[in-house]
Amino acid sequence: MALAEETSRIAALFEYSDEEVNKGVLEFLRQMKEGLQHDGTSLSQIPTYVTGVPNGTEKGLYLAVDLGGTNFRVCSVHLNGDTTFNLTYSKVAIPKELMVAEHAHQLFGFLAKQIEIFLRTHHGDHFDAHIRRRQTVSTPEGYRDEQIFRLGFTFSFPVQQSGINKGTLMRWTKGFDIPDAVGKDVCALLQQEIDRLHLPVKVAALVNDTVGTLMARSYTSPGKTATLLGAIFGTGTNGAYVEKVSNIKKPVGGDYDKSTGQMVVNTEWGSFDNQLNILPNTSYDIELDKKSVNPGIQMFEKRVSGMFLGEIVRLAIVDMLKNPSISLFRDENSSQNDWKSTTTIGAESSVFQQWGLDSSIMSIAAADNTPDFSTLRQELEKQLQVYAASREDALAFKKVAYAVGRRAARLSAVALGAIVLQSGKLKEAGDEPIDIGVDGSLVEHYPFFRDMIYEGLSAIEGIGPEGSKKIRIGIAKDGSGVGAALIALVAANMERKTVGDYLNRLRNDVAQKISNVFAGTAEPTTVA
Ligand code: GLC
Repeated sequence: MALAEETSRIAALFEYSDEEVNKGVLEFLRQMKEGLQHDGTSLSQIPTYVTGVPNGTEKGLYLAVDLGGTNFRVCSVHLNGDTTFNLTYSKVAIPKELMVAEHAHQLFGFLAKQIEIFLRTHHGDHFDAHIRRRQTVSTPEGYRDEQIFRLGFTFSFPVQQSGINKGTLMRWTKGFDIPDAVGKDVCALLQQEIDRLHLPVKVAALVNDTVGTLMARSYTSPGKTATLLGAIFGTGTNGAYVEKVSNIKKPVGGDYDKSTGQMVVNTEWGSFDNQLNILPNTSYDIELDKKSVNPGIQMFEKRVSGMFLGEIVRLAIVDMLKNPSISLFRDENSSQNDWKSTTTIGAESSVFQQWGLDSSIMSIAAADNTPDFSTLRQELEKQLQVYAASREDALAFKKVAYAVGRRAARLSAVALGAIVLQSGKLKEAGDEPIDIGVDGSLVEHYPFFRDMIYEGLSAIEGIGPEGSKKIRIGIAKDGSGVGAALIALVAANMERKTVGDYLNRLRNDVAQKISNVFAGTAEPTTVA
């Protein structure tokens, strides 16, 4: 009985009421506006130089690479122009020592090598044909490489962009830490290593995974609606949305297509409310943050994303294990256990190690509704070396994990709801839904995560149950591949436009000179 009571007390610490959701939304809207006005705010609101979303008719073959978590993916994407695509990809785990290497070139050299292996394996003919770069059309900026692979670089860390393929790393997140790379242009870092290997590849676009998700969803989503928002709920969490350029008050330098009046903004909402104005803050959140590599930063992410949820649950469970007045994962004799075996927990159990509880077990706990929780109990044994956990133990674990997962989903609703309100689309919307593309292990594998988000959305003033029905949250797979390819395509079109503009200027210039000659006003030519 004591265990059940203590479990309820701990679960209640993670309750996040409707009232708190609404307060959260107001603060999110405030911090969004602040981020659109200045640099250096907690919601970074980074302009991405992507000024429109696709409609499914785009075509071509592009390369895309994805660095953002534990794996590095290289893929080639053939966009068929009819909302479908074909994708070939390879995936390698990033060696742990490269995630915290001393020099940036160690990591980026490894990435370039993977691109070479991919090209040789999957595009051998093309690769050989272009092994020597052809220099063709000259532009005001010098010679331009033609006939090479355009690559979209999905780099899912906070980057201050200054162009479609330029951006300096602001800080590492998600366990990466290579101080040498901070403040450098990550596209240039990758291009240097690609050039060192003489690969026929140009890094054409820099893409956050959320922007890729937004583009991929917009390319593939049903109906004509352009997608409003792309979001990741995986190892990390973040969102990118379509904003009116007129709302972006801070300076946006460099070139971009001004005709659409829109620009995709990468919110970097992982750092929403780093100052903890409204975020819930249990003793477990405090402890997690204190022992993390980046205390005080990514405070929203630390309450929402897969990398951290397991650790919050672990800290709560350890707290319960230390409590002598309750009996979690131990019974005095086997007769109390329905498996008739004494519960033990291995001294080496990963429950006692930081990051030792993988969030995936939370999904298993949430999905196991069998009467005796047999799947969860087996998993506790396999993952955490908790042997012969009782039904009560499993139930306690399930309740704590659920409370942490549910709080994460309701916080996610705060971010999504605020962006829907900021867009003003609920007022405009006719019958067309407001489309949101999402990706990541939490939305994909955590049972009812999306339903819990919808429940949170319905509680938001200005959205309500009616409004939430108009919001369509759909999975957008392969955002980092397809989305990056789509942005590489946009970048290639921009390049063509620049070359086209240059040729037009040249043509006009020549025409002017000729007409001057006929009018007798030609300037004297100086021969050096
Ligand atoms: C982290 C990164 C962000 C990325 C997100 C999801 O929050 O800072 O750039 O989009 O993880 O992968």
